[in-house]
Amino acid sequence: MSDISYHDPRLAAVYDALNPLGDDSAFYLEMAGAEPRTILDMGCGTGLLTTALAARGHLVTGADPAAAMLDIARQRPHGDRVKWIESDAARLDLEARFDLIVMTGHVFQVFLSDEAISAALGNLRRHLAPDGRLIFETRNPARRQWLQWTPEATRRRLDIAGVGSVDVHYEVTAMDGQMVSYASHFRFGNGDAVIAPSTLRFVEPAQLATALAGAGFGEVAWYGDWDRSPLLAMSAEIIVVASQPSFALGGRGDLRY
Ligand SMILES: C[S@@+](CC[C@H](N)C(=O)[O-])C[C@H]1O[C@@H](n2cnc3c(N)ncnc32)[C@H](O)[C@@H]1O
Repeated sequence: MSDISYHDPRLAAVYDALNPLGDDSAFYLEMAGAEPRTILDMGCGTGLLTTALAARGHLVTGADPAAAMLDIARQRPHGDRVKWIESDAARLDLEARFDLIVMTGHVFQVFLSDEAISAALGNLRRHLAPDGRLIFETRNPARRQWLQWTPEATRRRLDIAGVGSVDVHYEVTAMDGQMVSYASHFRFGNGDAVIAPSTLRFVEPAQLATALAGAGFGEVAWYGDWDRSPLLAMSAEIIVVASQPSFALGGRGDLRY
């Protein structure tokens, strides 16, 4: 089982308060466009973006390995318009081929080995239509954002309907090459305390380019932020728009370093 933050219903219930819709969601909604498209939201979590896409008339499938997250997603407004599937990225096996596959909220960073990355990317490409695109993001290691994941910098109290007050903070517990391990600490108003350990991988853009080519993708557009500014050495995000090999994106956003 992956990260208990997603599998423990108490922690899944806190997820939306910690991760509301933001600039990233606006970017993905815009990339989906106004015309109805078939879209797979891989690692859809509690389905905030998934249902926003469905509300705009897209034909949406949301897939996630965590049943507790999907339980919340199904209950959301427009959740009945989405096909929900319990699966991870590498094991997904659908007949459908999608115009667009999105993987948001830094899901990509849960793939810790080169093998896990290529299994996920290869399987997602298999689920793309001939002119389909895969769009996802990963945090840029150059920005070393984990240095901010300290109890002092991250401590906050949330008040969540149906849950009550929850004190949350994060703390990095280990670093090993590109792997950053951290613990998410939750203390609920009733005294329950949960510590959820996680490990994320921070890949370099060049490694990602190699992995995308190895998985059979063609042209890739790279962005460094949600306003579609180019990917630069110190961009916060590495945002990838990858197309099938025969389908050109128009040459914008090349990987320049
Ligand atoms: C940080 S949440 C992102 C959720 C949602 N996409 C968002 O933007 O809010 C990460 C999600 O990835 C899912 N996940 C974990 N391992 C995965 C895998 N191997 N393949 C696909 N999704 C995975 C988790 O269950 C969790 O719901």
